[in-house]
Amino acid sequence: MNYRHAFHAGNFADVFKHAILLALLDSLTAKDKPLCCLDTHAGRGSYHLDDPEARKTGEWRDGVGRLFDDPEPPPPLLRYLDAIRACNPDGALRTYPGSPLLAAQTLRANDRLVLCETQDGEAAALRALFRSDARAHVHGRDGYAALRALLPPAERRGLVLIDPPFEAQEGEFTAIEAALALAHARWPNGVYAVWYPIKSHRAIAPFHRHLAAGPFEKVLVAELLVQPDDSPLRLNGCGMLIANPPWKIDAVLAAMLPALRSKLAQSLAASQRLHWLRGD
Ligand SMILES: C[S@@+](CC[C@H](N)C(=O)[O-])C[C@H]1O[C@@H](n2cnc3c(N)ncnc32)[C@H](O)[C@@H]1O
Repeated sequence: MNYRHAFHAGNFADVFKHAILLALLDSLTAKDKPLCCLDTHAGRGSYHLDDPEARKTGEWRDGVGRLFDDPEPPPPLLRYLDAIRACNPDGALRTYPGSPLLAAQTLRANDRLVLCETQDGEAAALRALFRSDARAHVHGRDGYAALRALLPPAERRGLVLIDPPFEAQEGEFTAIEAALALAHARWPNGVYAVWYPIKSHRAIAPFHRHLAAGPFEKVLVAELLVQPDDSPLRLNGCGMLIANPPWKIDAVLAAMLPALRSKLAQSLAASQRLHWLRGD
């Protein structure tokens, strides 16, 4: 178990995930009441694109690299790009923010950010990053197990991001299903966003069927394929399953997904899809 997100920071999957994360947090912070954002698999919070890991794969070039210098980025991606630019104030793309840093940028003074990360080095980097941010709480522990202890949050409003490394391949879906069942029992009204990789849709179908049967009343799914899902050996795309999606977020994502496809496609067969698994 040695997944390091540094190899993948800023790739097409991160752009997709983080653009949606910001849209969710923007929607939730539109109301005055304080909220809690819990990131169960937080990573190290920020990445240097000239570190050896990022240079080795160069994955960010087909992700954030396609957008950063675009003189006319698609309007639905401007909010995401502004967040990335805020981390690179001199105008050169060197730093890629992880989900904790993007969330911290978006949350207000009275919101709370709870971050779980099992790898010691990554958790230490997170602690250092948020040393002077009293809103942030870093737990060096299993994010799934933490749900039992940390839900419901005192604020009773907010978002849980579940973004595991999928080292267990399809077995990760089983862990997510159990985590969502537990989370629903403890906090049925929370917003839950689950990122997942797509190698083939066949592998995803049981997960979708499971969530289509409950327990959440409303479940929205956004997916992006940068290539056709005809090779189970590569990452062809990814999805975000959103349980209890904020009001009108489907309209925001309906505008965002074609923009993501047009900028991130790696094949003419690239596609996007937004659909309700349950409710609407
Ligand atoms: C995909 S990365 C997270 C990326 C991050 N959410 C972002 O968007 O910037 C997954 C992270 O989960 C950590 N991890 C793996 N298993 C975990 C677990 N059971 N609980 C918490 N963190 C875990 C890994 O060390 C890795 O840093």
